[in-house]
Amino acid sequence: MSDPNSKPETPNADLEWDERGQPISAQFGDVYFSKDDGLAETRHVFIANNQLPERFAALGARQQFVIGETGFGTGLNFLCAWQLFEQLAPAGARLHFISVEKYPLTRSDLERALQLWPELAVFSAQLLAQYRAIHPGFQRLTFANGRIVLTLLVGDVLEQLPQLDAQVDAWFLDGFAPAKNPQMWVPELYSQLARLSAPGTTLGTFTSVGYVRRGLIDVGFAMERTPGFGRKREVLKGVFNACSLNTEKPWFARPQTPAGKRHALVIGAGMAGCATASSLAQRGWQVTILERHAAIAQEASGNPQGVLYLKLSAHHTTLSRLIVSGFGYTRRLIQQLTKGEEWDDCGVLQLAFDEKEAKRQAQLAEAFPPDLLHVLDQSQAQMLAGVPLNGGGLFYPDAGWVHPPALCQLLSEQPNIRLQLHQEVLELRRQDGQWQAWDQEQLLASADVAVLANAAQIRQFSQSAELPLKRIRGQITRVPVTDSSQALKTVLCAEGYVAPPRNGEHTLGASFDFHSDEVSLKPAEHVSNLDLLRDISGELAQRMQADQLDPNTLQGRAAFRCTSPDYLPIVGPLADAEHFAKTYAALSKNARKVPNNACPWLEGLYINSGHGSRGLITAPLSGELIAAWLDNEPMPVPADVAHACHPNRFALRALMRKQN
Ligand SMILES: Cc1cc2nc3c(=O)[nH]c(=O)nc-3n(C[C@H](O)[C@H](O)[C@H](O)COP(=O)(O)OP(=O)(O)OC[C@H]3O[C@@H](n4cnc5c(N)ncnc54)[C@H](O)[C@@H]3O)c2cc1C
Ligand SMILES: C[S@@+](CC[C@H](N)C(=O)[O-])C[C@H]1O[C@@H](n2cnc3c(N)ncnc32)[C@H](O)[C@@H]1O
Repeated sequence: MSDPNSKPETPNADLEWDERGQPISAQFGDVYFSKDDGLAETRHVFIANNQLPERFAALGARQQFVIGETGFGTGLNFLCAWQLFEQLAPAGARLHFISVEKYPLTRSDLERALQLWPELAVFSAQLLAQYRAIHPGFQRLTFANGRIVLTLLVGDVLEQLPQLDAQVDAWFLDGFAPAKNPQMWVPELYSQLARLSAPGTTLGTFTSVGYVRRGLIDVGFAMERTPGFGRKREVLKGVFNACSLNTEKPWFARPQTPAGKRHALVIGAGMAGCATASSLAQRGWQVTILERHAAIAQEASGNPQGVLYLKLSAHHTTLSRLIVSGFGYTRRLIQQLTKGEEWDDCGVLQLAFDEKEAKRQAQLAEAFPPDLLHVLDQSQAQMLAGVPLNGGGLFYPDAGWVHPPALCQLLSEQPNIRLQLHQEVLELRRQDGQWQAWDQEQLLASADVAVLANAAQIRQFSQSAELPLKRIRGQITRVPVTDSSQALKTVLCAEGYVAPPRNGEHTLGASFDFHSDEVSLKPAEHVSNLDLLRDISGELAQRMQADQLDPNTLQGRAAFRCTSPDYLPIVGPLADAEHFAKTYAALSKNARKVPNNACPWLEGLYINSGHGSRGLITAPLSGELIAAWLDNEPMPVPADVAHACHPNRFALRALMRKQN
């Protein structure tokens, strides 16, 4: 029996359902939408009062429109906005919908609530299909091949909005009634709305409470009372007519995107390159990928099974938040692949192999919701894993494995992506506002924008030679499944990992060699992978007949991880290293005094690299991050996470170090 006084099992919405099947929040004692006609209320308060029909119809073919919302709830407002956008916005226009939600509905509650709106069924079915791994922080979902982008900020609005980097065109100020939810309707919220608005940004809200109206006026909205909906006499709408202060540090400011034909070169067809190409192609860019091999995913992204392995911190560091966001994004993406053959959400069990690890896991279980991770004791762990284990561990139920080449294939197979194989780029030249990719004396391709996604080889280009990327060799071992090893039902990890079978083989991983540059298989590394397996489960090693396997004939793969000194990927626009040092030289005398000089960007040059041992989790979302930098879109991750991944961070640190 669970203790009624203990904290709720999950931080999900706690719902009651009224006699008409409408949800009511038990946490707030309020309704999610008008009891009379929720759909008509949304269309009046949020859609009409923000003039969305006129504004959607007036969008240009490549324009985007950004809606911000407080309180995603059942997603009714989102679905209505999507439906209207589909009806009125021109092909090529895109809708960004950003919504904050402290208590996301569970998938089954969402399904039940959305059944109330049969006319939205075509949209709700797509939302439900993507509504997975909705864990704390920024969670991006994409629909209609990228035409509609939903960024859910899971957490309290007063914690989440300050992390957002976006410019909103229209606000849906929802959230329960001020009397039922006074913690949300506070000046800190209104300041954030103002920070994220520009002159002309509009706002609609269902409340007409005086202190809300005055609070919004105080931060720069011109507010107006308008007739309400149903039994409500009045509601509020407003327009922002102040200027928000730009406090951005110039080295993290958004560079101008070259006004050209929206043609981009992407160098490298691994996970980072394919993801970048996909995110740009969805935004109408023509993309040319240049890859030196005969096919995509031939290097680090070519293993038979990669694990969705989340190494988190209970302190919610930038890396940890990136991982939770990236995991959700990849997890939703791989749903499109063939389950069993190309991916499996069989869960990942990180074994508590010593006391220190058990302690770390207990802290993580305190810091994250149980639907993301929870501790299992030995018998629960064995039951889930299907094989005997020496102890328990931390279980990630949404995680599992994926066949990385299939994910690269999915991402790179789009009409406006052209793949040029057998093309090794040796030099990048800037000519007439274009980036040219050269192989000795042969021009391979040129475009307005180039994105370097060729792992550690980005250092071979003079423009990015300074970036501190290291190669770390790793080898995996492929072991044939046996009658008894196929009982393994979940990925098991300790220092190494073993996955349930795919195509009659288990993948064991992986060795780390910081010194070798060789790509050939090494029997000694098969031996070390088998030792890692024995540490995970001696019984499983026996079932896989590890002692009889000959390391000289075992199959496997070796490749290189590409890692930065702070283990964060390097994603974003690139500046000229020499000019950067000169432009911000003053920082080496006083790091607190931010010079107001514009950053010397290498116009149109971007990087997506340094994904280390977790590229499956970080590289796909980094494609969205590159697109956000390029197209001046809402960031898919918190601003401090985007800055922590920024290529300029190393040059900045070098300047600040000089100070001492
Ligand atoms: C043994 C091993 C096990 C791993 N296990 C996992 C795991 O379980 N889970 C996980 O999340 N991650 C894992 N990783 C890490 C993950 O594989 C990487 O982070 C990810 O694949 C990196 O993708 P990428 O596109 O940056 O690099 P790559 O896949 O290496 O792609 C770079 C591409 O650039 C091309 N290229 C390079 N130079 C040029 C040039 N000059 N011109 C044209 N093309 C060029 C290369 O040919 C290559 O195709 C593992 C890595 C290794 C090595
Ligand atoms: C009236 S409902 C929103 C209805 C929703 N827009 C829809 O279309 O279904 C209000 C929502 O705000 C959320 N909420 C309330 N206070 C919040 C806070 N401080 N931070 C984030 N979300 C909050 C609630 O959990 C709830 O889902």
